[in-house]
Amino acid sequence: MKPRIILFLLMSIFIMSCSQQKKTLKPEQRKKMEDKLSQLSVIPKPMEMKRTDGEFVINDSTKLLVVPGNRQPEEVADYFKKMLKKSSGYDLPVQTMNASTVFNNAIVFNLIENKDIGAEGYSLFVKPDLVTIAANAPAGLFYGVQTLRQLLPIQIESEELVTGKKWKIPCVEIIDAPRFQWRGAHLDVCRHFFPKEFVKKYIDILALHKMNTFHWHLTEDQGWRIEIKKYPKLTEVGAWRVDRSGVTWRDRQPQQPGEAATYGGYYTQEDVKEIVAYAKSRFIQVVPEIEMPGHALAAIAAYPEYSCFGGPFTVATGGYWPIKDIYCAGKEGTFEFLENILDEVIPLFPGEFFHIGGDEAFKENWEKCPDCQKRITDEGLKDVHELQSYFIKRIEKILNSRGKRLVGWDEILEGGLAPNATVMSWRGVAGGIEAANAGHDVVMSPTSHCYFDYYQAREGEPEAIGGYLPLEKVYSFEPVPPDIDPEKEKHILGAQANVWTEYIPTPEHAEYMLLPRLSALSEVVWSPKEARNLKDFHFRMQSFYERLTEMQINFRIPTPLGFGGERTIFGETVVELENPLSTGEIRYTLDGSDPGEGSLLYGEPIKITGDAEIKSRIFLDNGKMSSLTTEKIFLVNKKKNGLRFKYYEGRWEKLPDFGNLKIKGNGRCYSFDLKEARQREEFYGVVFSGFLKLKKKGEYTFYTISDDGSKLYVDGKLVVDNDGFHGAQEESGSIELKSGSHKITVEYFESSGTEKLEVLYKGPGIEKQKISPASFFYKK
Ligand code: ACM
Ligand code: ZN
Repeated sequence: MKPRIILFLLMSIFIMSCSQQKKTLKPEQRKKMEDKLSQLSVIPKPMEMKRTDGEFVINDSTKLLVVPGNRQPEEVADYFKKMLKKSSGYDLPVQTMNASTVFNNAIVFNLIENKDIGAEGYSLFVKPDLVTIAANAPAGLFYGVQTLRQLLPIQIESEELVTGKKWKIPCVEIIDAPRFQWRGAHLDVCRHFFPKEFVKKYIDILALHKMNTFHWHLTEDQGWRIEIKKYPKLTEVGAWRVDRSGVTWRDRQPQQPGEAATYGGYYTQEDVKEIVAYAKSRFIQVVPEIEMPGHALAAIAAYPEYSCFGGPFTVATGGYWPIKDIYCAGKEGTFEFLENILDEVIPLFPGEFFHIGGDEAFKENWEKCPDCQKRITDEGLKDVHELQSYFIKRIEKILNSRGKRLVGWDEILEGGLAPNATVMSWRGVAGGIEAANAGHDVVMSPTSHCYFDYYQAREGEPEAIGGYLPLEKVYSFEPVPPDIDPEKEKHILGAQANVWTEYIPTPEHAEYMLLPRLSALSEVVWSPKEARNLKDFHFRMQSFYERLTEMQINFRIPTPLGFGGERTIFGETVVELENPLSTGEIRYTLDGSDPGEGSLLYGEPIKITGDAEIKSRIFLDNGKMSSLTTEKIFLVNKKKNGLRFKYYEGRWEKLPDFGNLKIKGNGRCYSFDLKEARQREEFYGVVFSGFLKLKKKGEYTFYTISDDGSKLYVDGKLVVDNDGFHGAQEESGSIELKSGSHKITVEYFESSGTEKLEVLYKGPGIEKQKISPASFFYKK
């Protein structure tokens, strides 16, 4: 039989399976089907998936069949073969199909032509005697294998031989293809260095999630991590810093005279080739990032002649801000240096995209440097922003001439975008919208939804850089914002998680920050928008957590669903704790203590009749436990307590005069709860007002923690001015107050990114604390 005939036969299997889907089911059959379907926990959720009757069982005579004439399906089959061998012990042969091939007890890897599923889509049909993975291209076959793997028992992930296991795959019909072409995750290997083996594990985690882009952040103020043969000092000097581990990142003293630089490391060009090949065999493009013109302190510590004023510099030991020592944009030597570096880096990375950073470069040296000023004059540039644009455009020419496409952080929009640049939008989505509307390709990676260095919960977490990005928020991300012209939507290539490592010193910690948030993002970028459903995602994650455990990944053990924070109640209530895992138990306390293995075991909903504080943790069978979660419950009088809120919409960089604006909504709430008041997540303002009853007279200090700006007034007097466009910051102010009722007003605005508003106070006999909702009254 010729390959074409084999192809035809396989297509017929495919077509027959599709036609079987049309049977109408009786309600009880449908229910049974849905129950079975719900047990298929594939992450990210496939486009179409249908459970059919029966199962395929892999045994030692199962064959892996590939179509002749193309090497790559064989590579995919080989990848699956190795995965299966290490855990099941079966050493299945990969056979090329021919005229005498018998199509039973086989897993077939088949290249077909099907325009509906694109270059990365696949179909996976599992029948009791045959499994067929079909795709237009090898990448699709690979994603079919990732799904197949998730249909197998979790022990498939074991690094050790598992005996006595039935390696069964439920019968299914799946047709699947990704929503976006850029499904990325980034890793900063500069703030902390990560060994080659971990980079490979990271790539494997991406592959499991059908992610296809690894953005490798290789150069920084705190370390240069890639060997450049022409400039050996980049790694001899630039890859090492004085070790100030143990001191908070932001507070670290720079290198002092006589101190040895002992922390660091770098990848040789051979290491890089090995990692890029490893990624390629998992259909992952590696996008290197060589930062310029800022975040280059390690480079100019090694070669100070390419800065404006010549140094000397030392590699930053921790936080370095503002980033004022950057490459000189006036000296020709800088461009020669960078071109030579690019000429060594480019051949190592076969992918199309090359990231040049471009973010957070402070340009005060450029304002003063005669070379930079001469460049501005000679090139007829308006200012230093146009000088940055000149810089990036020159680099883009180099990259384009070597067949590469430039990617940069959204600062590259300032002073004019390079003609062919792709923008990675990180300071919200506004830069991405502007670039897409101007016809440039965009990758969405806003801090609000994609910064996996942010806290995953409000308490109990290891120290992080700031911000708050729980799993559910990642899951809610929509990479195509409504403000993009419909015909420009195609410019949104996809989205990406960023893992900056200032506060992530070890591989285990990086895994903790990555997962399960990457699982949520994988669904954002892969699954159809309308298929996304948080409840269903949580359900499918239950067994996925077990898979991650088997893979020995240090994921963050989730805390009870929907639990944590504060709530106000008007009378007796019950609190339910839902375990998001399929294993483990919830333990809790009501006395303020940290729950341990001997604390109350959650079984029934907990009855609450007044103010309460519930603390809980989940304990797994393997001895690990989740972080702590606390929920504070305040009993309020529904009629007497409360605040009024007025809601506004607009884009501001500081608080507007709300009195002159149209109110878009108003109502009653019982605390400064932004979610209660707002109707969208960005570009809005809220004014809360009510009466605070004080028992004692004396000096009171009020504190606001807000992101973005806020102002707090008592009896019409401004007490805390926390205005401005900024991240979460605390401000305070004091005032003498009599006992009794005082009008309190808090104005707040949110631009984009993280929203936050907390109000605390301290006064006679009152330690600094959040003001209880029971202290606010709706009327005087
Ligand atoms: C960035 O986070 N500075 C791109
Ligand atoms: Zn200069």
